[in-house]
Amino acid sequence: MSTVTSLAHADTNDLDAFFMPFTANRQFKKAPRMLVGAEGMHYITMDGRRVLDAAAGMWCVNAGHCREQIVQAVQRQAATMDYSPAFQMGNPAAFELASRIAALAPGDLDTLFYANSGSEAVDTTLKIALAYHRARGQGERTRFIGRERGYHGVGFGGTSVGGMKNNRKAFGSLLPGVDHLRHTHDPKEMAFSRGQPEWGAHLAEDLVRLCELHDPSTIAAVIVEPVAGSTGVLPPPKGYLERLREICDQHGILLIFDEVITGFGRLGASFAAEKFGIVPDMMTMAKGMTNAMVPASAVLMRRGIYDALMQGPEWMIELAHGYTYSAHPLAVAAGLATLDIYRDEGLFERAAALSPKFEDAIHSLKGLPHVTDIRNLGLMAAIDLEPRPGQPSARGYEVFLECYQQGVYLRYTADTLAFSPPLIVEESQIDQIFDTVGKAIRAVA
Ligand SMILES: Cc1ncc(COP(=O)(O)O)c(C=O)c1O
Repeated sequence: MSTVTSLAHADTNDLDAFFMPFTANRQFKKAPRMLVGAEGMHYITMDGRRVLDAAAGMWCVNAGHCREQIVQAVQRQAATMDYSPAFQMGNPAAFELASRIAALAPGDLDTLFYANSGSEAVDTTLKIALAYHRARGQGERTRFIGRERGYHGVGFGGTSVGGMKNNRKAFGSLLPGVDHLRHTHDPKEMAFSRGQPEWGAHLAEDLVRLCELHDPSTIAAVIVEPVAGSTGVLPPPKGYLERLREICDQHGILLIFDEVITGFGRLGASFAAEKFGIVPDMMTMAKGMTNAMVPASAVLMRRGIYDALMQGPEWMIELAHGYTYSAHPLAVAAGLATLDIYRDEGLFERAAALSPKFEDAIHSLKGLPHVTDIRNLGLMAAIDLEPRPGQPSARGYEVFLECYQQGVYLRYTADTLAFSPPLIVEESQIDQIFDTVGKAIRAVA
């Protein structure tokens, strides 16, 4: 049994009682990294250190930690109405939040369905895609196309359309009828690109190949992250998303953007759809929706999808789908307060204004030992390190650990380091992040 003796209730604290998600449990429990507080741009560790958060938690605390306005909104709501069902009952604030989010999105992305996590939002989009086609008499459209290196959460739907191989391999055959586009990252052509790579629009033609293989009339939807996040920040090549949109339109296939990371200012715009000027048929969102203070997610869909589902007698439930905690009052209160902060502090614009500085700072690490690629867009970026022979992910972990010890928290996936600071980050903190990372890369052989 591994324990942490300095915790208040050390005698009852069996670390093995918590099977930690996406964690090397045995390694972690030998030397736990415990966080006990958070404020603005920082975490506070159990041993009292302040650690700069270069990852916005997990790409989610976009307005910074423990924002008073959101804390108060959640506290007020908890004391007023702790919970209300969203099945056959309404809370006016949930309609207000839906309208305000829809107003941030481009085109006729007008109707919002609430869930609680990014994974649930993804699976919701897939189910709505099927139900939509069926409602229009095209029930034979049942296939989904994801993309290699895509991450769409951990439900069976999201795992199936996802393309990160370690996330799939233990879980059997997953959903039938799913295929994948090739991913868009080719370091030979685009290493050290700043922003969207010039090369690679033609990779969207892979969708034409899959349409020919499966017959487009069998394909319900294509789902992609507009900028792939968890796989290591892959901005789309210029023209790529535009071409996916064209091919989907040509064949009546729905295009879904998974905006769980890219939503709420990460790219210096409300959503990636806004930034790239491409209107998908549905988009997911989560993370920054409530500044991560209360779990919440949603699917925003074009008006035509909602309208197509409004069929049959009015007393009938139109979509047999939803969650006990859909539109949870605490999440809705947090969401409204979060949107106020984004608006009042101009945080999406702030992210856009800071991104050239962020880009210069991270690209200044080009040329350091083992750095094989650096990529960025808006306030998200990644550094690829060359894996140590026979020890994949060891180097990434050691750099992460060294940075944490030196006061900077970042995310790492295998040998890729990822950065997505809260949008309130100061220029001096951007310097601190990349100075620390540079020293850590030099220190770790
Ligand atoms: C693009 C994308 N989709 C879905 C998810 C899953 O979200 P959650 O962990 O809230 O289920 C994530 C999480 O990082 C994500 O980045």
